Order: sequence, then C-alpha cells, then structure tokens
Amino acid sequence: MPKITTFSGYFHEYQKSIVQPQKFWERIAETFHWKKRWTNVLDWNFEEPSVKWFVDGKLNITENIFERFLYTKGDQPAIIWEPNNPKEAYRVLTYRDLYEEVNRFSNALKSIAVVKGDRVVIYMPMVPEAAVAMLACARIGAIHSVVFAGFSSTSLADRIKDCKAKVVLTSDGNFRGAKTIPVKDVVDEALEKCPSVKSTVVLKRTNTEINMRVGRDMWWHDVIENESTECNAETMDSEDMLFILYTSGSTGKPKGVVHTTGGYMVYTKYSFENVFQYQQGDVYWCTADIGWITGHSYIIYGPLLAGATTLMFEGVPTFPHPGRFWEIVDKHQVNQFYTAPTAIRALQTHGIEPIAPFKLDSLKVLGTVGEPINEEAWHWYHDHIGKNRCPIVDTWWQTETGGILVSPIAGITPTKPSYATMPLPGIQPVILDNEGNELFGNSVEGNLCIKFPWPSMLRTTYGDHERCRQTYFSSFPGYYFTGDVVRRDEDGYYRILGRVDDVINVSGHRMGTAEVENAIDEHPLVIESAVVGYPHDIKGQGIFAFVIADMSQRSEESLIQEIRETVNRIIGPIAKPDKILVVPGLPKTRSGKIMRRILRKIASGDASNLGDTSTLLNPEVVEDIKKAAGV
Ligand code: PRX
Repeated sequence: MPKITTFSGYFHEYQKSIVQPQKFWERIAETFHWKKRWTNVLDWNFEEPSVKWFVDGKLNITENIFERFLYTKGDQPAIIWEPNNPKEAYRVLTYRDLYEEVNRFSNALKSIAVVKGDRVVIYMPMVPEAAVAMLACARIGAIHSVVFAGFSSTSLADRIKDCKAKVVLTSDGNFRGAKTIPVKDVVDEALEKCPSVKSTVVLKRTNTEINMRVGRDMWWHDVIENESTECNAETMDSEDMLFILYTSGSTGKPKGVVHTTGGYMVYTKYSFENVFQYQQGDVYWCTADIGWITGHSYIIYGPLLAGATTLMFEGVPTFPHPGRFWEIVDKHQVNQFYTAPTAIRALQTHGIEPIAPFKLDSLKVLGTVGEPINEEAWHWYHDHIGKNRCPIVDTWWQTETGGILVSPIAGITPTKPSYATMPLPGIQPVILDNEGNELFGNSVEGNLCIKFPWPSMLRTTYGDHERCRQTYFSSFPGYYFTGDVVRRDEDGYYRILGRVDDVINVSGHRMGTAEVENAIDEHPLVIESAVVGYPHDIKGQGIFAFVIADMSQRSEESLIQEIRETVNRIIGPIAKPDKILVVPGLPKTRSGKIMRRILRKIASGDASNLGDTSTLLNPEVVEDIKKAAGV
C-alpha cells in the first residue's frame, strides 16, 4: 500500500489522485485480495445520485483481514481489550483467535437462519464479541447495523423497524463506569414493537438476571458451543451493502446511512495507515464506541485491514479515576491515541494531577474527531499528553463519508491548532457560497461540498433513496453537500466552523434539533418547543430547549425534570436538554416558522443585536423570552 512519508510526497500523491482518480484508486485497490477483479473502477453521477466503485469486483472484506494475515500475523494481537473495571483481567485476541471466533459466530448466525442480505442489529457493549459480531456478519454477507447501547428502547425499535432486522445481538447488561445498565430489558421493550425480529443472541457480561423468551432468545455461549472454527467467506459484490448506520439529520427520524463493501474497504485502510502513520507492531487506540462511525472505520475495519493491533476500551474516561485513559496508555504502551475534543475538555477540568503518575512515553501520534477542537484544549492535549512531541491529527469527516476526508498526515503535514488542515488524496473539497458559486483561492468561507466521489462515501439512505438525494445532493446540484461551514485560510488550510443546518453537535454526537423537539412534545403538558445549540465548555454545544407548556398542573421545576426524563426515555441520555426554559411564546415568522436565529442568540446569553425582529408575527414575545432567560 503506497504510504505517504514526506510532505512533498503528499502533494505528489494528491496531485495524482486529482488528475487521474481512477488510476490512483485502482493502484490502491490492487493491493487487496479480490475474488474477481472489477471491470470498471468508477461509475458515477451526483444527480440520482449513483456511485459505484470497483464495478463487478467480487470480494469478502474479512478475507482481507484474516486469510490475508493469518500466516504472517496469526500470533500478533489483533484486539487488546481493556475492561471497564481495571481489576478485571484484560484480554488479547490474536489474529488467529479473532479469525476463529468470527468463524464460530458466523456459523452460529447461519444456524439461526441468517443469510446474505439479512439485517442484523448489534446493541452491545464495547467487548471483543461486538467486533466478532460485526465481522461475522460481514463474513456471511449479512448487513450489520450497530446501535449505540446508550439509546432508548424507542430509538432502538425505530432503527430495527426501519431496516427490518431479523436478529438482534445484545448482552444481559453493560458496565459503564460505576453503573451496570440492564440493556436486555431495553431490547425486550423494543422488540414488542418489532415483528421482524425472529431471534436474539445474548452475551453474558454482567450476570444480570434477565428474561429469556423461549423460542426467541439464545445465549451467545450456547449458540457457538458446537460450531466449527472454519467458515467460508461469502462472495460479495463490491457494491453489496456492508452496513447501515443511523445518524441524525435536520429533519425527521434518523436515517440509515448505507456503506458498501469494496470502496469502504479500500478507503478505510488507506486513510488509517496514512493519517495515523501506523507502523507494524504499534498499538493503536481509538476511544470511540462501535455505535458510531468512528468505531466502525477506525476501531474495527481500518486497523484490522491494516493488520494493526487495535485497543478496545469498555469503560469511560473518568472511572475509577480521571487518569484512566493515561493509565491504559502506559499499561498497553499505546502509540497512537484517537479521541474526541469533548473528552479532552472533560479531562482538562481535572487539572494535570491525574496525568502525573503516567509516563505516556509510548505515544507517537494524537488524534481528535467529531467536533471542532478549541485552541485551549488543543494546547492542553499537545503539551500535557503529547509532551510537545506528538503531532495532533484533527480529523474531519462524517458518518456519510465513511472515512477521514480532511486531516493532517501525522508528523508530515504541519499542524495549526483547530485546523483539520488539508484534504487526503482523492478528496476534492470545494467551498460554495449560498448561491452555489465556487469560492476559489484562499481566505474564503462558505458551504463545504465535495465535487468528486471517493470510495467510502455513502451510497444511499436505507429504504429511501430520495431522502439521500434531497439531503446531500440537492442543495448544490452536482456536489455532495456536507452540511458544514468551513473556512479556507491564507495557507489553504481548512478549519471546520460548524453546521449550517439544524443539527447540533453535543459532545461529538450529532443531534437533530427536530428529533429532540419531537421527544419533548411527547410530554402531555408541552404545547410546543424549540431546541437550539449553545456554546458549552465541555460538550462543545449544549442543548437548550424553549418550551411552551400548560403550567397549571406542575411546578416549573418538576415539569422541567419530567421533560428531561421524557427525552431520556424517547431518545436516550445523550439527548437530555442541558437547559429548559418555559416561555410564553416562540418567535415566529408570518408563515409560522420559528426564528431560531433569535433563540440561538438568547441561548448563548447574548441578547444584544438580535437583528430585525419586525417581520415577526409576535415581536413582543422576544422581550418575554429575554426576561425569562435573564439576558
Ligand atoms: O460538523 C462536523 C463534525 O461532526 C459532523 C459529523 O458527525 P458524525 O456523522 O456523527 O461523525 C462524527 C465522526 C466522524 C461533521 O459534519 N465534525 C467531525 N469531525 C470534525 C467535526 N467538526 C470539526 N472538526 C472535526 N475534526
């Protein structure tokens, strides 16, 4: 695999990738194992949209992990697993161990009638079996859809119903910091509304007492017991679906982003090796959860395709103490460490004492992902964790992009705090103004779009291709629109400024304001609500809800508490509003649209210069809201 080793090498590769993209990607694809070579590298148009990479190529992504590495790396650790509680023993799965576990579970899935093309929902903790589950699906051609295990039963049920999953893989309970979470109960509740699910497989993790429904629920250890450790890999088309991952948008329910096999494989490995400059023998750790795209591409697929050792951590950064991350880095001699700015900011609040006992001298590269990193957090990370010697890769990408698109190449691209810097080879970003004109040159700011396909881009939104077209390809015809606003500075470096739509980024998690509003509106006393993001010291953005409610039956305090609980029940704890303000009305335009611009200003504590409010249907309400907010 061609690896970039110098800055001029980066420019050279980039240039090649733009001048002859097909040839560029073909050369990289050739380094993988295909059962049948493609007939055409790329067919595409952004109108339908239709994007096909390595057309007619046949392969199995897991053969590019296992059959490829078994003889050379059979005894090398593939996964190092660190449990939630440091007193429990950690586990190491070599490439051979993982291969055998994947095969056993592949056979188990077959034994419960899972066939190529079936959807399997994975609602599991961060344990090696979750990786086994994903890879077993890929091995037999089933399509996995991992749902973050912090989501509520309603959210889980919505996702299961949307993809009509046949099987759900889960656990009896999850450990998370000091808590034990009874996740099987959540699954049971969800499944009441999901007739498509014929079976569940339950991993014993916490020994929590649970209900096992006869004829539907099976224990993981039982289903694998008599299964063989050999299982032939299904032949997949390059464009067969590999997985569906749900993500929030500005309207409606979360959509199922679809990634396919060949292009995703090529891009995740290529980007992993280059961005992190992974060297054979290194230990790489990404702290994300497999419920998010970062977990898919850069805990599981990218690293394993590269034959890397990837660390999986079950717990949280502050349990049992706020030095836990650094303890793990020393314990397993981690070389590349990849986390979210929100985690850095949260740890920053504990000061530097928790870091002091640890050497951190194995670290070579630090990474961030998911949200803009503020300069202060960047410097703290750089100085106290990287000890001024580790480059930071601020990686910009999305669930839809499948892999990192804009990022420094570690140690090669000169970095600048809070800049994702430059596009990876093969990525052609453009900045458009609101009329769709391309803004050329440097020192420009506008809508971030991509004008040429890359191998790991989404292909559709599951079951609703029109929604994919509308969301990503209609605002600026001929381009993929990211929904982000970006600045290209005087050096040609990209700095992501945030979303332009009604999506907020809370602790690196994407949240549609409409989704939170819908959940709030489920409370019987709520008449209407409007949700906006506001700057939050640790989360990046917090959730601020303005609510009109019937106040005759509750104190304000208990109503607010109940609303928070309602959101928790309907979506999950990550969507609970940080602030809820009961207001007499919401500022609306004459056509009845809520003027969020005004609410955003008030939520940020700045009520000066609210702009022109005279076009509002009810301008007087602005003063009332300001008073209620105390700004
Ligand atoms: O707004 C951008 C922000 O996160 C969004 C994508 O969210 P999601 O699909 O959940 O994927 C997150 C992990 C890849 C983007 O539209 N974002 C992501 N990375 C960065 C970022 N904002 C600034 N800097 C980043 N490095």
